[in-house]
Amino acid sequence: MAIGFKKSETDPLLWEPIPEQIDLINKLLTRIADKVISVRAAGMIYARDTGRNISLATMNTLAVKHGCVNPVKRVRVKKENLDAEIKAQNTKLWKMKKRAEALGDAKKLLKPEAPKIVIPETIASAPAEVKDLIAAQDVVFEPNPGPQTDFLASPEREVFYGGARGGGKSFSLIVDPLRHCDKAAHHALILRRTMPELRDLINHSQRLYKKAFPGAQWREQEKEWRFPSGARIDFGYAESSTDALRYQGQSYTYIGVDELPQFPTPDIWNDLRGALRSVDPSIPEYMRATGNPGNVGSAWVKEMFVDPAPPNTTFYHKVDLPDGTVNHISRRFIPAKLSDNPYLTKTKAYMTMLASLPEIKRKQWLDGSWEEQDGLAFSDFKRTIHVVDPRDINITTSMPKFRAADFGFSSPACVLWFAVDYDNNLYVYREYYGKGLVADLFAYKIKDMERGDNIKYGVMDASVWARRGDTGPSIIEIMTKCGLIWRPSDRSPHSRITGKYEIHRRLSVQPDTGKPKVFIFNTCRNLIKQLSSIPTDLNNPEDCDTKQEDHAIDAFRYGVMSRPMNDNSFEIASVPKRQAPDPVDKYFGY
Ligand SMILES: Nc1ncnc2c1ncn2[C@@H]1O[C@H](COP(=O)(O)OP(=O)(O)OP(=O)(O)O)[C@@H](O)[C@H]1O
Ligand SMILES: [Mg+2]
Repeated sequence: MAIGFKKSETDPLLWEPIPEQIDLINKLLTRIADKVISVRAAGMIYARDTGRNISLATMNTLAVKHGCVNPVKRVRVKKENLDAEIKAQNTKLWKMKKRAEALGDAKKLLKPEAPKIVIPETIASAPAEVKDLIAAQDVVFEPNPGPQTDFLASPEREVFYGGARGGGKSFSLIVDPLRHCDKAAHHALILRRTMPELRDLINHSQRLYKKAFPGAQWREQEKEWRFPSGARIDFGYAESSTDALRYQGQSYTYIGVDELPQFPTPDIWNDLRGALRSVDPSIPEYMRATGNPGNVGSAWVKEMFVDPAPPNTTFYHKVDLPDGTVNHISRRFIPAKLSDNPYLTKTKAYMTMLASLPEIKRKQWLDGSWEEQDGLAFSDFKRTIHVVDPRDINITTSMPKFRAADFGFSSPACVLWFAVDYDNNLYVYREYYGKGLVADLFAYKIKDMERGDNIKYGVMDASVWARRGDTGPSIIEIMTKCGLIWRPSDRSPHSRITGKYEIHRRLSVQPDTGKPKVFIFNTCRNLIKQLSSIPTDLNNPEDCDTKQEDHAIDAFRYGVMSRPMNDNSFEIASVPKRQAPDPVDKYFGY
């Protein structure tokens, strides 16, 4: 039946319009087009007002025909294509979901109070409009491709980023701890050797931190950044071992040491390791360091990070635990090159300056080479070769023993105890290092430490014999009275040079055994520290720089020089007659 028409009563083949119904239909179609009523409602009104039913499909066809609604496309899916169709629809839905998530993440990141740290993976996976949104923001830091990115992405517990000058090492070190500054339990330490050097890093942080975390506050007194979350980043220095004590009782989730090779010994690194602990499992514990070759501590840094594995690979340092088990610390060395830093290579000025340096400095600072160890007086001293664990060496009672000392009251005194094995190898098995003990207290202390050792003789800095008044008791006289007997070290004009030569001879690896002729117990920390760090005297390349602390090296020299090479080890105890000092006074023995 045609809507709005009826069969003519006179001619059954003719359809006559019903004007009221045509009118009604037109009105209803207009209201559908104006979105006042739905197609279904129009059908219902038509049925109510005319008493004639109209199906929804017919009403819809009318509405589509008159352009009042858009046609609904019905896709007929063949049964065999159904699975593929469902899969395609699911993929489409998943993509839309991911896009919504990425948009949500990006919106969160871009909120002013939230941290604006965006890692490259986030940007890469973000939709185009998010990328545009991020690009439009004031990006505080973007790592340079290559080593700087590797450094910031390293998962190892301890990482050293070192090599050429200007690679962007320090910059990345101060950016790295920002990563967890949205967490209250995050507490980082950025350390340098001295305060003036630290100021440079603080200045950098002031340009960066506030931009990254607008609520961050710098507290000059405490040298500390406080973040809105409660996270903290401390800036500290450790020039002496007393400075280092400040950090021992603390808990840090991140420790970053800039210019690590400026520290003469690994003590600072080892001490700080004890302060690295996290109470929040979502904050991993990291120790990071940067530095250049050619510094006073370059040798131990090279030994710890550069030598054990090829650059940029993870390696594991074995640690024996007190319960008898073994654990490992993951480490990595990332080499730095100036060419990695586009900010310093825009012009050739800095590169030209580095290229103009003398050869060794150029290799160290321009090429980032760790092979040139210039300036160390005992570059042949290697911890891996000369330092031994007391648990591995048996100092027997039958081994001849002696001691050697450099005495001091205001400056440190050092006493080293030596044992000699049947092959004439020397073992430095004990060390005393301290100051402030007067002669008799010093004597009692030493006697107490060597109780039961059967010491054959002691050798002491010859200049102590000269330290005496005309009438009052001298240092040696007091010690002798306390039962601590010494003989003076070689005091000839060239004794320092020949003594240094004798140390080198002892340190050198023997072709037949593959081992040196002197071993030092790892408990003799000051001797190890000084041997591995003392520079050559710039005015006399044959000698050590005496401006550095060298009391342990002096005692060591007196020790190795106290006995001529003797195939009969048992003769060690007897001082050849011609070398024995003639006592001026038989009672005091000097
Ligand atoms: N990702 C970066 N974004 C912006 N600037 C950077 C970036 N990396 C490095 N720089 C710039 O390069 C300069 C040199 O970097 P940085 O001081 O970190 O080098 P370095 O390797 O520590 O140098 P040195 O060996 O002399 O200590 C910085 O002051 C900084 O301005
Ligand atoms: Mg630097």
